[in-house]
Amino acid sequence: MAAHLPSFCSRHASMAVAAALMIVMATEAPAGVALLKDDIGFMWGPDHSFFYDDGNALALCLEKSHGSGFRSNAANLYARYDIDVKLVANDSAGTVTTVYLTTDDVRPGYHDEVDMEFLGNVTGEPYTLHTNIFVNSVGNREQQFRLWFDPTKEFHTYSVEWTPKNIIFLIDGTPIRVYKHEPSLGGTFPTQRHMRLDGSLWNADDWATQGGRVKTDWTRAPFYAYYRNFRVTPCAPSSPSGVASCSDEPPAPAVLQKVRAEHLLYDYCEDQNRFKDTGLPKECTAD
Ligand SMILES: *[C@@H]1O[C@H](CO)[C@@H](O)[C@H](O)[C@H]1NC(C)=O
Ligand SMILES: *[C@@H]1O[C@H](CO)[C@@H](O)[C@H](O)[C@H]1NC(C)=O
Repeated sequence: MAAHLPSFCSRHASMAVAAALMIVMATEAPAGVALLKDDIGFMWGPDHSFFYDDGNALALCLEKSHGSGFRSNAANLYARYDIDVKLVANDSAGTVTTVYLTTDDVRPGYHDEVDMEFLGNVTGEPYTLHTNIFVNSVGNREQQFRLWFDPTKEFHTYSVEWTPKNIIFLIDGTPIRVYKHEPSLGGTFPTQRHMRLDGSLWNADDWATQGGRVKTDWTRAPFYAYYRNFRVTPCAPSSPSGVASCSDEPPAPAVLQKVRAEHLLYDYCEDQNRFKDTGLPKECTAD
């Protein structure tokens, strides 16, 4: 596979893909899933990206020179995005694997983003899931979680459901974060621009692991993350026929409270010290 490419990643790709394939064999793609290779394009590092499983699955490869990033062809104003990901195994310190929604427009003031970033760690220590929401280029809406499983052993489904009322982050169907649209606040919710789903694997050892103290160990490179079974379901008003699987209703408070009690590491809305000069962001004190 791509054996003519000179990079270290491509020399090792067939091995990594063979290992990944063994896991894919044991599982079934959900019916009606289009091929990942037909649904995405590469933003960077196309030589560090390898399709397998007949194009339904993708390995991203990171070495010192660069990693890789892709973007969905589909752009929607309100949709549910689901994708299965298996994260970098063993020593993943310094690496960041991402799944996020983003507008094409990155001009200051016009950029929206809904982020899930998986911050790697040294062997045996847990990943951190870092989430954030940017509206009109303003972020600072972080929540972080500890996962309740080893995300490197198997694929898990990571989802963002973006309706006119809520942004809901889900893992294997369990909601972990709900961000409400409060129209009266103005400008705190993405309502203007279509977003696509991006995924990437890159080096962020200046901040990702234990606050940047642990650097990427390049002797362990190349690093691999795997994606498969990308699904996008438009929600109204993008596509009136696609509303069925976007509930538009937030999950029961008890479900979310349990997840937060057991797995939440950080919530910007509880960080009084950080916002002591300005007061908490207005969406934190609404209701
Ligand atoms: C991770 O470590 C285990 C146990 O040493 C090994 O079997 C596996 O191949 C390693 N995985 C990767 C991706 O290096
Ligand atoms: C890595 O492991 C350490 C020790 O368990 C933990 O404090 C930290 O939150 C973990 N995650 C990251 C991204 O540093």
